[in-house]
Amino acid sequence: MKHLFKQGDSQKPVFLLLHGTGGDERDLLPIAAFIDPTASILSVRGNVLENGMPRFFKRLSEGIFDEADLTLRTAELHAFLKEAATNYGFSLERIIPIGYSNGANIAASMLYRFPHVFEAAILLHAMVPIRNKEIPVLEGMKIFLSGGEHDPIVPIKETKELQQALIAAGGDVSLYFGTSHQLTQTELNAAKNWYQQSY
Ligand code: MLT
Repeated sequence: MKHLFKQGDSQKPVFLLLHGTGGDERDLLPIAAFIDPTASILSVRGNVLENGMPRFFKRLSEGIFDEADLTLRTAELHAFLKEAATNYGFSLERIIPIGYSNGANIAASMLYRFPHVFEAAILLHAMVPIRNKEIPVLEGMKIFLSGGEHDPIVPIKETKELQQALIAAGGDVSLYFGTSHQLTQTELNAAKNWYQQSY
């Protein structure tokens, strides 16, 4: 997958940056630098193009995912992470995704499909990636989840549904509500505070 890697402090986690629809691997670099400038970064570009806009999986319409493609792309990203960990010499267990919107959705999809897949997770405006499927045990995984009180893409009840599913699997979820679908500085401050409590 098209990506960039920046080696940071080897004692720190590796941020896996996953952009929103129409973004690329450079989009979330300032956010990673804001949260922890010393962490390593693996930033990936989604392999799917929707009218020229990169995404991580296909959708049938806004908020309706192509489940077969999501399954395939989630496995593809998982395989890519294993390969990247070997090539760049970091431990798979140290990955913390910072995903926004479509990128948060594929990060959430990883949580639904693979046990122990991340050390912790920052899911900014994520949706429930798949229904009628239980999340494997998360064993206290710390998760920062955000939504927006007037988010036109992710209704509040969907953010809360995802929160409940993550908690039911044993996740330690910190929930933040901003205003709309856009990222705000106060939301990023909250994510940084959450991160700094653990690292
Ligand atoms: C998605 O398709 O993943 C969500 O609708 C968010 C987005 O618009 O990218």
